[in-house]
Amino acid sequence: MSKVDVLLGLQWGDEGKGKIVDVMTPEYDVIARFQGGPNAGHTLEFNGIKHVLHIIPSGIFHKEKLNVIGNGVLIEPAIFSDEVEALREKGVEPTDNLYISKKAHLILPSHRLLDAANEQAKGNAKIGSTLKGIGPAYTDKIARTGIRVGDTLEFDFREKYQLLKFQHLQLAKTLNFDIDSFRINNMTLDEYEVKWMDSLDTLRKFKLINSEYFINKCLKEGKKVLAEGAQGSMLDIDFGSYPFVTSSSTVTAGVCSGLGVAPSAIGRVMGITKAYCTRVGAGPFPTELFDETGRTLCEIGHEYGATTGRSRRCGWIDMPALRYACMLNGVTDLIVTKPDVMNDFDEIKMCTEYIINGEETDEIPFEYNEVEIKPKLSVFPGWKQDISYAKKYEDLPKQLTDYLGIIEKQTGIRICAVSISPDRKDVLFK
Ligand code: GDP
Ligand code: IMO
Ligand code: MG
Repeated sequence: MSKVDVLLGLQWGDEGKGKIVDVMTPEYDVIARFQGGPNAGHTLEFNGIKHVLHIIPSGIFHKEKLNVIGNGVLIEPAIFSDEVEALREKGVEPTDNLYISKKAHLILPSHRLLDAANEQAKGNAKIGSTLKGIGPAYTDKIARTGIRVGDTLEFDFREKYQLLKFQHLQLAKTLNFDIDSFRINNMTLDEYEVKWMDSLDTLRKFKLINSEYFINKCLKEGKKVLAEGAQGSMLDIDFGSYPFVTSSSTVTAGVCSGLGVAPSAIGRVMGITKAYCTRVGAGPFPTELFDETGRTLCEIGHEYGATTGRSRRCGWIDMPALRYACMLNGVTDLIVTKPDVMNDFDEIKMCTEYIINGEETDEIPFEYNEVEIKPKLSVFPGWKQDISYAKKYEDLPKQLTDYLGIIEKQTGIRICAVSISPDRKDVLFK
């Protein structure tokens, strides 16, 4: 019996999960998404072409590998259908190697309307949702009122759909939301609904399976399975900076419920972190930089959301948050991305502890959102050179390997790989 390896983000998302999954896919037989939905934007680059995936796992470009969308994922059929079309335009036919769980829940157009209504109702306390309907769709899942992929094959699907939509519209009205002015991609709700319904045909052409049986059968046969996380640990519904979080379990525990595998079936847990830190949307970010350095990280790192295009907030790496994420996930290996963004920096800073009310602490406080947190910063010399020449870990400049060594020391976990460009070929394994 083989185990499920896990690859997930340790920060607030966008750590480079898509790229690393693509690079690691040759070592695996199956790549499976276990949570999240089209709020994710996973970027892959090879042969000079950039690809952004939202719902489809990042192993899809490897024809001979199977990809699975697990029961824990949310599917928005129209977005999914557009993603399939974009792949076809690039010569990739995903019906061949993508299986979808019948138990994955659907995002309805009216979930997206409700997402917007909820955000509007929050006023200044907005979460900064991607507005893909994530919160409302997971709400329905937990409330036992959701609709699953497999339900679209049943005779009473339309009836269920209409009932749920009606409830959503009622709720939006009580939130004083202007339904008539609401648009998705410049379409009214009714117009978008037509596109959404049509796209169900695309979805139904895929192999719809009980993915928990499929994955466990693969493990029994000794096949290697990689679970691909979306978002990041600090956006986890339980352990993130609540309520400024997403609505799913982004940590390793989510793999068990999102794919139907036992905790004892979890193998390596590879956690990804940038060499610095970013966050999109609202919520605490103790190491955030509001100065020129922050703007440089954003510009050089092209820190603009792959899903919404919003500019990402940038700051120094945050060790209390990283250690917390390593603890929650049981990380066995660290992967560091984007140190190349800091090639020209004279010095690199790292937050080693938080200072709250004058006291040093290593813990993420319950009052994360309210309390003033001063980062205790250590300063390291920059490497001041282009590192694109590096073909193996040992080629990296000493100042950088020293910095990476501090990350290992601070977390107690070894770094197994470093990524130094957006391209597939630039990952240095250690
Ligand atoms: P994900 O959501 O975790 O898959 O990450 P995103 O794709 O949203 O954001 C990561 C961004 O950084 C993308 O634009 C990647 O192309 C890019 N990227 C990934 N690894 C590296 C790296 O090592 N160096 C640089 N400069 N860019 C990288
Ligand atoms: P990937 O997989 C970065 C953020 C949103 C918002 C909060 C809630 O590409 O790393 P939601 O739409 O889930 O209700 O938004 O979570 N968020 C992400 N930030 N990367 C992501 O995914 C994200 N998915 C959601 O910006 O603050
Ligand atoms: Mg992303």
